[in-house]
Amino acid sequence: MLTWMGVWAFMCGIMGYIGDRQAQSVLLSGLNKLEYRGYDSAGVAIAGDAELQVEKSVGRLAVLADHLAMSPIVGKVGIGHTRWATHGRPSDENAHPHTACDREFAVVHNGIIENYLQLKEHLLSRGHRFTSETDTEVVAHLLEEYFTGDLFSTVLRVIKEIRGAYALAVVAEKEPEKIVAVRKHSPLVVGFGDGEQFLASDIPALLDYTREVHILAEGEIAVLTKDGIACYDLAGEPMTVEPFFVTWDAQAAEKGGYAHYMLKEIYEQPKAVRDTLSGRLTEEGRGVVLPELAWTVEEIKKIDRIHIVACGTSYHAGLVGKAAIEQLARIPVDVEVASEYRYRDPILSADTLILVISQSGETADTLAALRNAKACGNRVLAITNVVGSSVAREADDVMITWAGPEISVASTKAYTTQLIALYLLAIYLGQSLQVIDAVFISELVHEMQTLPQKLDDVLETAPQIEKIAQAFSTWDDAFFLGRGIDYFVALEGALKYKEISYIHAEAYPAGELKHGTLALIVEQVPVIALVTQDVLYEKSLSNIKEVKARDAYVLGIAWAGDDEIAKSVDRVLYVPRTMSFFAPVMLIAPLQLLAYYASVARGNDVDKPRNLAKSVTVE
Ligand code: F6R
Repeated sequence: MLTWMGVWAFMCGIMGYIGDRQAQSVLLSGLNKLEYRGYDSAGVAIAGDAELQVEKSVGRLAVLADHLAMSPIVGKVGIGHTRWATHGRPSDENAHPHTACDREFAVVHNGIIENYLQLKEHLLSRGHRFTSETDTEVVAHLLEEYFTGDLFSTVLRVIKEIRGAYALAVVAEKEPEKIVAVRKHSPLVVGFGDGEQFLASDIPALLDYTREVHILAEGEIAVLTKDGIACYDLAGEPMTVEPFFVTWDAQAAEKGGYAHYMLKEIYEQPKAVRDTLSGRLTEEGRGVVLPELAWTVEEIKKIDRIHIVACGTSYHAGLVGKAAIEQLARIPVDVEVASEYRYRDPILSADTLILVISQSGETADTLAALRNAKACGNRVLAITNVVGSSVAREADDVMITWAGPEISVASTKAYTTQLIALYLLAIYLGQSLQVIDAVFISELVHEMQTLPQKLDDVLETAPQIEKIAQAFSTWDDAFFLGRGIDYFVALEGALKYKEISYIHAEAYPAGELKHGTLALIVEQVPVIALVTQDVLYEKSLSNIKEVKARDAYVLGIAWAGDDEIAKSVDRVLYVPRTMSFFAPVMLIAPLQLLAYYASVARGNDVDKPRNLAKSVTVE
């Protein structure tokens, strides 16, 4: 599988141009190709014949394009950015490029500068004035602080001061004939033209202009002038680079070489899980820290009940969250679909915590439920993927899932990271309330750290799943069975299957079949049976026998090493063993792939299924 940009940190899109064209139009067209990396705000800085000019605005790129159409910026050197907020909500001020006090330097950045607070404090004491809440702005001020008359050597000095993951591009009013860019753990590519040069986070942004590209190595610095690109290492020593010629079709390249965003996002899950865990486990790996929840133990002790409220896939994650919180923290949890909850006058005590889960943070029903709860005076915690979304802004406390932008309508990596956030929360509550002992906590934490690698292993079974999906795709029905937590994953598997393959799919708690649904089980009908809950293993096998007795075609998904299951089903897919508790993280990837390949086999528009929208902002 082609993952040519490798691992990336939090995503934003960077574009740069220097040459004879008007930079504005090149930057906008490149950013348009990078919008999948982030789309909550955008901006450009253009060094013209006069002073450096910056235009930026909150909202999608189209908003910026409208502003620039009304008042174009003239100039042939520029940098641009499309943002996915991490530090600081989406706003005009927090949009990139960032400038320093005298507006002589402009910076765009992808990634996170970990030590920005210390740097900011120092710069404030030196009289610098900050206008945004971002980590990026410190770079502009550092450039101003250290500028020696030579942008390249100043950038070298600045990057010695900053820690973290970044791709940076910088322009200076005093040296308008160059762009300096540097890469450390965030992707950056340069493109070579004839009398013009380009810079971007990702190759697709360059393909309308050039196919001669070079992907910057870790710690590589590029200096772009109209006539060429010179590359250096962190010590400032020149490096020899050999551009390569891109032969890929532009559309495929935009999806990182994957046929669809959904597939790309499925494959991003190990990384998304790692990012969501990052910074939330204690250094010795023996517990959970959630700095975003400034709750005292006394406050936690007072929580008498939790209502989890969400829609669709997020609701399914909430069901797993209930199991985790009840087991690890012994706090009773109800999970409800937001569109019902908001109209049902739920019974809330003052100490009931409302936990809303929403990838987009904009789902109308979830937002309404949140507002109702707040109007009742209840505390609301949100788990969301979008910093600065309405849900994130209005909740009292927020846990961000670091899945990065999810473009495909069918949610995949957002679900997996919601599960991780919920596990973290459950452990955090259990640990604060001393419901679980230290040994069990460190077992849980240790096991969670193995999940990204195990997920990688699951994804290797994709070719087998593709074949099964092709066979299943000729059927008009499919049944997903599970018991305990497996049932909650079956619900999500069935939702994925129906929404993109348009095949009727139903999920059932396997023990419930005989109360009606068994009547629908006929010869060869596909049944997907999830069998990972050890305490329910025998029961699950006997339910499988019930459907096998009606000649269904049963695909079992079970732990690696379970030889017994193979005797009861037609086909088994094995997933690496983890604690039963974390089984959803292992089970969901094969189910997503099954839905994906069934949709492809049916010739459907995988990323934009009919009648559905990514974010449901109306009732
Ligand atoms: C299904 C899917 C939807 C969303 C639902 C809630 O693949 O994506 O069911 O989960 O519309 O959306 P958020 O999480 O943005 O509130």
